[in-house]
Amino acid sequence: MATINFRPVSYSRVTLTELMIPSYANFGGKIHGGILLSLMDKVAYACASKHAGNYCVTVTVDGVHFLQPVEVGDLVSLLASVNYVGNTSLLVGIKVIAENVKTGTVKHTNTSYFTMVAKGDDEKPTQVPGLTLETREDARRFLEAIRRRDLSRRYQAEMENSKTILQVEDELYLLQNERCQLAF
Ligand SMILES: CC(C)(COP(=O)(O)OP(=O)(O)OC[C@H]1O[C@@H](n2cnc3c(N)ncnc32)[C@H](O)[C@@H]1OP(=O)(O)O)[C@@H](O)C(=O)NCCC(=O)NCCS
Repeated sequence: MATINFRPVSYSRVTLTELMIPSYANFGGKIHGGILLSLMDKVAYACASKHAGNYCVTVTVDGVHFLQPVEVGDLVSLLASVNYVGNTSLLVGIKVIAENVKTGTVKHTNTSYFTMVAKGDDEKPTQVPGLTLETREDARRFLEAIRRRDLSRRYQAEMENSKTILQVEDELYLLQNERCQLAF
C-alpha cells in the first residue's frame, strides 16, 4: 500500500453535535464539565485518527477553561481540526459552541487543544502524514501551535527546575498571605 505523505486540514475536520439531556446535569442544573471533556476527547480522537489513518491516544490537554455554563436542552457542537503535526503527534484544536434551540442564541464556551499520538499495530508511536495548509487561517493555526509547543516545552522545563530547587523551609514565608495554616 502506498504511503500517504500529506493530507489536507479539510480531510479530517469533524463536527460532533449532541443534545444536552437532563442526566448530563450536575446538582446546580448545569452540564457537568466531565461530560464536555468526554465529548472533546471523542471528537479529538475522531479527527486525529482520521488524519493519521491509525488509532490515536490522548497525551495532553491544554486550554480547558469553562468560562460559561452549558444548560440542559442546549445543542452543543464541537468543531475539531488538526492544527499542527509533529512526527508522531498531532495537535487538534476544538471549538465548543452551545446553542439554545428556542432562542437561537449561540455561545462559544471554550477552545481547547488536545495533543494526540498515533499508534501503529505494534502499539508504538508511528509517523503521521504531513499537513496540507489550504488557507491562510490553517497557516495561522499551525504557526500558533509551534509557539504553543515551544512555550509548553519551556514551561515544563521551568517546572522541573523549580521542583528540584524548591527549598520548603526557605519559602514558607510565601504562605503568610495565603488562605492556609500550618499544622506541623
Ligand atoms: C504518549 C505516548 C505514546 C508517548 O510514548 P513515548 O514512548 O514517550 O513516545 P515518544 O517519546 O516517541 O513521543 C511520541 C510523541 O509524543 C510527544 N509527547 C510525548 N510526551 C508529550 C507531552 N508530555 N506533551 C506533548 N507531547 C508529548 C512527543 O513529542 C512525540 O511527538 P513527535 O513524534 O511528534 O515528536 C505514551 O506515553 C502513551 O502511550 N501514553 C498513554 C496514552 C493514553 O493511553 N492516553 C489515554 C488517556 S489514559
